Amino acid sequence: MSKKNKQKSSIWGGRFKTGPSDLMQEINSSISFDKILYSEDIEGSKAHAKMLATQKIITPEDFKAIKQGLEKIHEEIAAGHFSFSVELEDIHMNIETRLSELIGEPAKRLHTARSRNDQIATDIRLYLRNQIDQLDFLLKKLQKELWKKAEKNTLTLMPGYTHLQTAQPISFGFHLAAYIEMVGRDRERFQDCRKRINESPLGAAALAGTSFPIDRHLTAKLLGFDRPMPNALDAVSSRDFALEFASAATICAIHLSRLAEEIVIWSTDRFNFIQLSDNFTTGSSIMPQKKNPDAAELVRAKPGRIMGHFTSLATILKGLPLAYGKDLQEDKEPLFDTQKTLFISIAAMTGMIEDMHINATAMRNALQRGHPTATDLADFLVVKLGKTFRDAHHISGKIVALADENKSALEDLNLADIQKIEPKLDQSVYNILKIDNACNARSSFGGTASAQVKERLKEAAVRFDLDDKEN
Ligand code: ARG
Repeated sequence: MSKKNKQKSSIWGGRFKTGPSDLMQEINSSISFDKILYSEDIEGSKAHAKMLATQKIITPEDFKAIKQGLEKIHEEIAAGHFSFSVELEDIHMNIETRLSELIGEPAKRLHTARSRNDQIATDIRLYLRNQIDQLDFLLKKLQKELWKKAEKNTLTLMPGYTHLQTAQPISFGFHLAAYIEMVGRDRERFQDCRKRINESPLGAAALAGTSFPIDRHLTAKLLGFDRPMPNALDAVSSRDFALEFASAATICAIHLSRLAEEIVIWSTDRFNFIQLSDNFTTGSSIMPQKKNPDAAELVRAKPGRIMGHFTSLATILKGLPLAYGKDLQEDKEPLFDTQKTLFISIAAMTGMIEDMHINATAMRNALQRGHPTATDLADFLVVKLGKTFRDAHHISGKIVALADENKSALEDLNLADIQKIEPKLDQSVYNILKIDNACNARSSFGGTASAQVKERLKEAAVRFDLDDKEN
């Protein structure tokens, strides 16, 4: 049997004879992680107290004392001078108890017409809204770094791959610009989720609203929410907004992880397309030559955690009856770690892109080895010699086989040798075989031609607001 030597809760202990057991305290307490919400909790309490005073539910004097007390507590916590207590379970009761110590009687009126159920729902919404605003800033910064590197490399040719086999020539700028779009959609997903986060549960009380004459529109307005949530039961029970955040975070982390994997591949000695800076690599304790892309590998792995958190949240919510159940306390650690993991992944990726050295010669050499203009040759045979595409494909394939046999790039083959395969081809075929021409020929909207990429980049800068002056 677990020991039971605790004091009764000064907040809810009225109907109890003794306090909870040690074990109960341990499983029940959330202060070790929810103290991160102190600022949001205080903000919510200040708004609630102001509304209570406006509605004449508490006096202006009570409000003044509560406000000053809460501000003092904010300072104490921010300065690291606050002593959090496990006995007081969570951030709400830690703050309320301290408020009582500081201001006495008025502190006991703060919780009028409120419950910890609407209080915590409010805190998490305020927290996630703030995190999304910071995320938008971080993701924009990543887009800016991608943009700068892309703009400089619209003529830096590399193999475009399918199946990780050389497919067609593209520019490195074009490749990076693909990620500007993905990150752009991540930003949009978070903004979209922000809309549903930005509704106020405060005043829903425990589950059914309250008989006090509160003004939920006022607290919503004071906290910068778009509106009070229209159903109190929904307001305290729902965490779909948190699930949406975790889902957007999962998708974003997956995007980062795809780029991270490319960085790992590009920086191998076989590819050698890029070099990462010393800032984002580590050495080996045994192999002196090693420069390992650990940061990229970690960004590649981090979605494992974030997806896991999504799954935790979804599992907690699944089948949970309305309204509040303590299960909902388990939403916090997954959310907080999602935030932390995503933030550091974005920052590390931004740093790697910013510092990355590009080895254009290695990219071009790899490209030439892969005969990437074979499709252009087939297209040319259709247009110039009137072949069917299937015949043209066959002829081009034979010319590729010849180049492989001669260990030559397509554009370095002799015309006489080419003509043994297709006698009607002349000197003009070399314009087609040249990889620079092949890249620039793909000038369709969204294609890899340098001029096209530059156009799209210009437009992306406007669409994603990348020209603002903030860093
Ligand atoms: N710590 C709790 C949580 O995070 C706060 C709400 C507690 N509500 C309750 N009825 N016990 O969910």
